[in-house]
Amino acid sequence: MDRNLALEFIRVTEAAAIAASQWIGRGDKHAADQAAVNQMRARFNQIDFSGRVVIGEGSKDKAPQLYTGEKVGMGKTPVMDLAVDPLEATDSVAYGRYNAISVIVAGAKGSLLHAPDTYMEKIAVGPKAADAIDIDDPVEVNISKVAKKIGKDVREITVIVLDRPRHKTLIDKIRKIGSRVRLITDGDVAAAIATCLPESGIDLLMGIGGSTEAVLAAAPVKIFGGQLFCRFKPQSPEHIDEIKRSGVKDVNKIFSADDLAKGDQLTFTATGVIDGPLLPGVVIDKNKIITHSLVIRASSKTVRYITTHHHYQAV
Ligand code: FBP
Repeated sequence: MDRNLALEFIRVTEAAAIAASQWIGRGDKHAADQAAVNQMRARFNQIDFSGRVVIGEGSKDKAPQLYTGEKVGMGKTPVMDLAVDPLEATDSVAYGRYNAISVIVAGAKGSLLHAPDTYMEKIAVGPKAADAIDIDDPVEVNISKVAKKIGKDVREITVIVLDRPRHKTLIDKIRKIGSRVRLITDGDVAAAIATCLPESGIDLLMGIGGSTEAVLAAAPVKIFGGQLFCRFKPQSPEHIDEIKRSGVKDVNKIFSADDLAKGDQLTFTATGVIDGPLLPGVVIDKNKIITHSLVIRASSKTVRYITTHHHYQAV
């Protein structure tokens, strides 16, 4: 992917993150999401490229903006497929909790799985233990293998898990073998990527989360050399129909990071909205706003952390 385009996308996630941050703690998740969507779409449409949203805000009848299939950009080339979440973890923003980002994954046409919006069971790990995990292995076995690979005792392993009743058994098992559980209320995209950053203190992500979020996390995990395995966990017969309609023939198929985000024309761009394991959130000062972003390109494997100081008037 064009290196300048990757940097252009930072302006898009920055604008969406700043817009969402105005809604931190105000209790209105729809307003927070809409503010981020408006900015992301408007900023995409100022860039000289041709993007097709393959993962966005939902189907056209449910989402008038950034819907699946919408074309964005003001140019004819380069042609890119986009998986976007203008605000990943809307509740974190609405209720002033931890961990929310604005995120874009771009890839060559056909490179990103058109995952319908349902659930997936996931396991993610960083580069040192990328070949140590198997989604079909028992929890204890995966943790022990990862611990051995990265040279830690199982008691030193930290597993990040979405705090949901459906994860009670998983959490009990992790605690039973002595590992630490880091519970998050939302945001398993940042959590999966954090397994690739030693300074995050997170070794593994486990549990069931959104399937579109799996595609968003797959590209950066792959670029960092980590691994993410997942499998659809449909919650209803309608979900099974949607999965099949999206072109996935085997609902029980295990997807690797490379199955979800193919090739090396991938970029991942994110800006923190609220502090999380991946990025600090938007800082609003009297006369300026500070944002923290991350942009990663698969072709060069460069990882850029960008801190931007915005003048208040410019926002
Ligand atoms: P939203 O961006 O749609 O608010 O998703 C937040 C999130 O926590 C994701 O990170 C996660 O994959 C998913 O929700 C889990 O779904 P649920 O909240 O239904 O358990």
